[in-house]
Amino acid sequence: MKILFLDQSGKPGGAELCLLDIAKPYRDHCLVGLFADGSFRNLLEENQIPVEVLTTDQIQVRKESSLVQGLSSLAQLAPLIAKVMQIALNYDLIYANTQKALVVGALASFFTHRPLVYHLHDILSLEHFSQTNRRIAVTSANRFASLIIANSEASKAAFVEAGGHPEITEVVYNGFDSKIYHSSESEVSQIRQQLGLNGQFVVGHFSRLAPWKGQHILIEALAQCPEEVTVILVGDALFGEQDYVQRLHDQVKTLAIETRVKFLGFRSDVPLLMAACDLVAHTSTSPEPFGRVIVEAMLSGRRVVAANAGGAIELVEHGVNGFLFTPGNSQELAQVIITCLNDREKTAAIANNARATASQRFDVANINQQIAQLLMRLC
Ligand code: UDP
Ligand code: GLC
Repeated sequence: MKILFLDQSGKPGGAELCLLDIAKPYRDHCLVGLFADGSFRNLLEENQIPVEVLTTDQIQVRKESSLVQGLSSLAQLAPLIAKVMQIALNYDLIYANTQKALVVGALASFFTHRPLVYHLHDILSLEHFSQTNRRIAVTSANRFASLIIANSEASKAAFVEAGGHPEITEVVYNGFDSKIYHSSESEVSQIRQQLGLNGQFVVGHFSRLAPWKGQHILIEALAQCPEEVTVILVGDALFGEQDYVQRLHDQVKTLAIETRVKFLGFRSDVPLLMAACDLVAHTSTSPEPFGRVIVEAMLSGRRVVAANAGGAIELVEHGVNGFLFTPGNSQELAQVIITCLNDREKTAAIANNARATASQRFDVANINQQIAQLLMRLC
C-alpha cells in the first residue's frame, strides 16, 4: 500500500514522533509531505523515510482563528492543495496527521478519490481550539475521512462530543520500541556526573516549554521539597512561547532555587536523560491527549507522576504503575515527590511493574500491526 502522509509541522512534537514510527514500515513506498521545513525533516531522512517539504509559506490560520480568517486562509492554501492533489495521484491513501493536514488532505481526497485517514492527536476542547477551527476539523473529518485514529479514549470522547462520528473512530495508542529505553549503569552515572546530579534526587520534566505543559507547577512543587531534590527541564519552546520561558526563569529566581533547576533545552537523548532521573513528572494543566513522556518514563523503569486528566488516566493507575495528582495542584505534586524520595524501595517496585506492563501494552510492532489492519480495510 502506497501512503501519502501529511503533517503541517517541521518540528518534532509528539504527533510527529508518533508519525515517524508509523511511517517506518512503509518507508519503501510512502512519502511524508510537510507544510514547513525543520528538524523533523532531518529526523525522517535519518530514518530513510522519503520526505518532501511541500510549502515553506507560513500558513496563517491558527488554532484560535475565526471563520473569516479560516476562509481567507483556504484561498492562501490553494497552491498547496493543488500540489498535494497531484502527488496523491501516485498513492493509494492519504494519511493526515495534524489539523491543517486534514483540511488540505480532505480536499485532495475529494478530488483524487483517494481514501483519507485522520490521526487525531488533540483533545478538541474550546480551551485550545476556537469554535470555528473545531467545527472545520470535525466537519472535514466526518465528511471526508474514511477512518479517524484517535490517540486515546479521551481524544475520541472530545471529538464525538464536538459532533464527530464515533462509528469511524478507532482508538490506537502511540507505539514505542522498548529497546531504546535501556541504558547501562555506566552511561547513567556518566550523564549524572556531567550534569552535576550526583547525590541528588532528580525529578525530570520532558516536554516543550508551554504554559499548559505546566513546568511552573513543578517548580512550585520543588520549592516545597527538601534540598536534595533537583529538577531537570528537558525541552524548548517549540511554538514561540518565549514569554513563558522567561516567566519560568523569573519564577526560579524569585524562589531562590536556581541551583536546583536545570534548563537543558531540546534534547534528542531523552531515553538516557530519563534513565538519569529518579522520578519523571508530567504536569499538564489541561487534559493531555495522550502523553508520550508518561509511557517513555515507564519504559525507562522510572517512577512517574502525571496530572490526573485526559489520556494520562488511561496510562497511569495510581499506586500500581505510577502516581496521579490533581492538575495544577503543586502541594499534591510535592507530596508525591516526597513519598518517592522517602520510600524508594516501594516506589521503585511500582516503576518496575510499570516497565513490564508498558512494554507489552505499547509495543510498536503490535501498534503498527493494528494500524496496518485498519488501513487494509480501506484499500
Ligand atoms: N521530547 C524530545 N526532546 C525534548 C523534549 C521532548 O525528544 O527535549 C519528546 C518526548 O520524549 C516525547 C515528545 O517529545 O516523545 C513529546 O510528546 P508528548 O506526547 O509527551 O507531548 P506533546 O509535546 O506532543 O504534546
Ligand atoms: C499530541 C498530544 C500528545 C500526544 C501526541 C502523540 O502532541 O499533545 O498528548 O502524546 O500528540 O499522539
